[in-house]
Amino acid sequence: MKKVFVFVVVGVVLFSGALLFAADKAVPEDYDEDTYGPKDPIVWEKPVKAVVFDHKVHTMEGGLECDSCHDELFQMEAGAAQENDDFTMATLYDGGYCGACHDGSTAFASNTRCTACHIGVRGSDRLQGDAAAGKKAH
Ligand code: HEC
Ligand code: HEC
Ligand code: HEC
Repeated sequence: MKKVFVFVVVGVVLFSGALLFAADKAVPEDYDEDTYGPKDPIVWEKPVKAVVFDHKVHTMEGGLECDSCHDELFQMEAGAAQENDDFTMATLYDGGYCGACHDGSTAFASNTRCTACHIGVRGSDRLQGDAAAGKKAH
């Protein structure tokens, strides 16, 4: 009897652990990439490591259409922008790239909240680690 109880408790703990892990990812199971864009965040490592962009925040939560960014500001190709020499804060402050909206009126200004976009070396390694772990789990 005691053993069964222990099994149930362990089961519940593991199950809620899995739920918490899923919630932490914050991408719903039925997230539709055709409607909202790629599920995985885009990470740039140039010129500085690393800056992150999340489609979900902008489309599903922010209500933006694809053509508010594609293809005038960004190509539909992860990593394309970081090949340009002008992918810098100076261009953002001038209203280019993210700065088209992150100007303090449409969205928070590019000269504030640095760490909302910049996740640093460790943040990037963590994301990559998560992605690798996620792939193994599937
Ligand atoms: C707020 C801006 C923004 C909006 C809105 C947006 N995207 Fe994107 N998208 C980006 C950025 C930034 C990239 C990465 C481009 C780069 O690295 O140069 C990207 C890349 C992509 C890619 C390439 C991913 C890959 O792995 O190569 C696809 C596909 C894409 N977007 C689809 C969509 C679709 C579909 C929508 C509408 C549902 C959408 N995007 C809306 C900013 C946006
Ligand atoms: C077409 C307009 C538009 C473009 C372009 C755009 N964003 Fe945003 N972004 C928004 C809006 C609107 C929000 C939600 C409102 C807010 O947080 O101010 C948002 C929110 C965010 C957030 C969420 C902050 C939080 O509260 O969690 C981050 C991070 C972010 N954007 C990064 C970027 C990056 C990096 C780029 C360029 C690669 C970019 N955005 C390009 C409009 C845009
Ligand atoms: C809206 C998103 C966003 C915010 C907010 C932001 N950055 Fe950036 N930052 C970028 C992007 C995109 C790049 C280019 C990609 C890369 O370097 O990985 C970049 C690149 C940089 C670079 C290297 C290129 C250059 O301009 O010299 C520095 C340094 C930098 N950011 C500092 C900052 C500081 C400091 C803050 C806060 C005052 C800040 N950033 C806020 C998106 C942002």
